[in-house]
Parts: sequence; structure tokens; C-alpha cells
Amino acid sequence: MENKRVATLTLDDGRSIELPIVSGTLGPDVIDIHNLGKLGVFTYDPAFFSTASCTSAITFIDGDAGLLYYRGYPIEQLAAQSDFLEVCYLLLNGQLPDAGQKASFKKKVTSHTMVHDQMAKFFNGFRRDAHPMAVMVGVVGALSAFYHDSLDINNPEHRDLSAMRLLGKVPTIAAMAYKYHAGFPFIYPKNKFSYVENFMYMMFATPAEEYVPNPKLVRALERIFILHADHEQNASTSTVRLAGSSGANPFACIASGIAALWGPAHGGANEAALNMLEEIGDVSRVAEYVQGVKDKKYRLMGFGHRVYKNMDPRAAVMRETCYEVLQELGLENDKLFKLAMELEQIALHDPYFIERKLYPNVDFYSGIVLRALGIPTNMFTVIFAVGRTIGWISQWNEMMADSDRKIGRPRQLYLGADRRDYIPVEQR
Ligand code: ACO
Repeated sequence: MENKRVATLTLDDGRSIELPIVSGTLGPDVIDIHNLGKLGVFTYDPAFFSTASCTSAITFIDGDAGLLYYRGYPIEQLAAQSDFLEVCYLLLNGQLPDAGQKASFKKKVTSHTMVHDQMAKFFNGFRRDAHPMAVMVGVVGALSAFYHDSLDINNPEHRDLSAMRLLGKVPTIAAMAYKYHAGFPFIYPKNKFSYVENFMYMMFATPAEEYVPNPKLVRALERIFILHADHEQNASTSTVRLAGSSGANPFACIASGIAALWGPAHGGANEAALNMLEEIGDVSRVAEYVQGVKDKKYRLMGFGHRVYKNMDPRAAVMRETCYEVLQELGLENDKLFKLAMELEQIALHDPYFIERKLYPNVDFYSGIVLRALGIPTNMFTVIFAVGRTIGWISQWNEMMADSDRKIGRPRQLYLGADRRDYIPVEQR
């Protein structure tokens, strides 16, 4: 006989329902409340503290133990041994590629790095001082205007083509957003480079000067992309899934993910963390600033995480990369870096942060690395978006491949006015 595990929910009026308990491969069991609505009640879980919104076989996080796996592979192993495009293949297809698959995947992505020439005109519509994330939302969304009619989202081959287009074009658009903001001419992609080299080339080359990528710095950015590639059902990924659940165009869905990522509580944290360091300005002001955090005047940006209540494993890798990059560039005595290290040490030993399990997250260190690489602060979240694009596409693709897919539609606890009759304006 099947060992069916159930949780029984009994309401205060005596009615009860048995709810199946479902186990995943890893992680906590979930109670399947699918049929709860039949009792005429719903659960209330704003901000999804205790609610799984979908099944997924892509990424696993254990926030208490500080674990992050992509398709079962620990993030530390991927960051040390893999490269970004291989990680993209893994996230999208579920398995690491063999040598032939790896080469043909790179070729496919590379053949999509150029954007339609018409797209360059979009940039002229933005003010030069527009935030690059605003430009990203607009221009990535505009891809849907170029690739809508030819796209059948229920056809796996069409979905694959969209994935290749997004992987190829998002770095090009990101670099164009930077060049436009800075007032430099656009630099076209060069496919002789690796994915990450090509991005750095489009960012830093000018028609007047050739850019020769430094392998150590390329490796650092490669790691940033790998570490940010996916993070299961975070705010931006859930946004992409919810938008996609209606059958919307994938480029528009990814643009919605970029919009959600922009917020300072999510991907905007690396920019906010750097701005915070600049605001503190000097090591002598760290103690005073930390006191302000404890008095709840503001938050320590780059600290804390909804899921990790232990050291974020990505932060540990990024911390190491941070030291490597600063050493390579001779920036160990950089004022801001010293300030960041002082802040890190104070926070790691202060009871306020220990009690609340607030550790530095990946964005605390990635901001310092990106700054050392010469990337301007307002491009930090754009870099995050370039890395996360593969996660969004993989999660969207997984959802679209599910024949049982339904439009996402949360319920609510209504707290507004009860029924009332309309009163003509002269009687109000
Ligand atoms: N600085 C100071 N205190 C904090 C911080 C912080 N960064 N984060 C949380 N706290 C405190 C809260 O004030 C609260 O204290 P209380 O219990 O005395 O009221 C407690 O810790 C719990 O905080 P919540 O806001 O309930 O935690 P939640 O899980 O909702 O928030 C979040 C997670 C949004 C990441 C939060 O820690 C934060 O705002 N951090 C700063 C922004 C940041 O770095 N975001 C990047 C996230 S990682 C990423 O997107 C890749």
C-alpha cells in the first residue's frame, strides 16, 4: 500500500481537509494546498515566506547550510572549474556538455551577438543620463518587436532560438547602454573572443584604441556571471515566470525580470553597497555608520539575504576573487576596499548582525570587484542582469515545457470597503 503522507487542516468550524505532503529530491517537504480553495479558504503568505510557487529541477539552495547547486553541481566547483557558457548550457539543458556540444553551443550563441541595426536607433530616444537599467528594460523589451511573429513559444526549437538570441544579444545591449551613457561610439562584437572577453571588449574598446583583455580580469568577470547565473525563485525570476505564465513574448518577460532586478533590495544592492561605501567615505566613520544601522536609520547594503541565514556561498567565492583582482591591479591599499573590509569585520562580530544572521552577500564583494575592473557604479546591476539572463531563460523554458502550465494568479485577503451604493457627486 502506498505510504501517503498527509497534513490535516481543521478549521474552527470543524471542517477539515487532508493535504498531501510532497518531498523533493533535496530540501524541506512541502504541503500541497492546491485543493484548499474547495473549503472556501485560502492561505495568506505575503512575500512568499513559506510558499513554493512552482516545481523546478534547475537550482537548489539550502540557506541555513549555505549551499547552492546548479543542476546538482556545487557553485564552488563550477566557479573554480567551469566557464560561463558551459554553465549556461548546464542550466538550460540539465547536463554538462561534452566537447562537441560545448563547441556548437558557443558557435550558436556567438552567431547571435549582433543586434538588428535598427536597434541602435532606440538608444537615441533616451536621455544620455538615463540609468542604464532603464535603458535595458526598454531595449531588451524592444527585442520582442523584432522577434514576435516568427515565434511559437510552444515549439521547443523556437524557444531554443530565443534563448540563443537573448544570450547573444543581452551583453551587446548592455555594452551599448554603457557606451551611450558615456558618450562613446558603440563597439560591435568580435566573435574571436570568448563570451566574457567579448563583453569586456564591447565595454572598453574604442575605435581609437584596441582593447586587449587581461585574463585575470576576464576570469573575475566570468566568476561574477557564473555566481549570478541563477538563484531559483527569487523576485526577478518569479516575475519572469509570472509574466511568462500568460504566454507572453519571452523578450518581454526577460525585460520584466530586468525591471524587478533593478530594485535596491535585489540586484540594485551591489550599486547601493558601493554608494554606501562612498557615503561613509573613511574608515574613521565606520563605527558611527554601523550605529546608525543598529538604530534602524538605514540598512547595511550588501548584507543579509532572504534565504541565506549563513554565509552566502557565492560571497565566499567573490571575496576570494576580490582579493585576486585587487592584487592584480595593485589596489590592495585602495581606500574604499579598506573601508569595506573594516565594515565587513565589524558587522561579522557585532551581536546585532550575528543575532539576525546578517552576513555579507555576494553583492557586497562583487561591487568592489566591478569597480576595480573599471565598470561604473550605475552599470553594476546591468552586469548582474547579463549574468542572470540565462537563469531567467532556463526557468521560463522549464515552465513553458510543462504541459500542465497554468496562468499564475495569486489570491488576496481583501481589506477594502464593504459593498456600498454610489452617491451622486452633488450629494457627497
Ligand atoms: N542591514 C541592517 N539590518 C538588516 C539588514 C541589513 N542589510 N537586512 C535585514 N536587517 C534586519 C531587519 O531590520 C530586521 O531586523 P528586526 O528583526 O529587528 O526588525 C531583520 O534583519 C530581518 O530583516 P527582514 O527585512 O525581515 O529580512 P528579509 O529576509 O525580508 O530581507 C533583504 C532580506 C531584503 C535582502 C535584506 O536583508 C536587505 O534589505 N538587505 C540589504 C539589501 C541587499 O543587500 N540586498 C541584496 C540581496 S542578495 C541579491 O539580490 C543577490
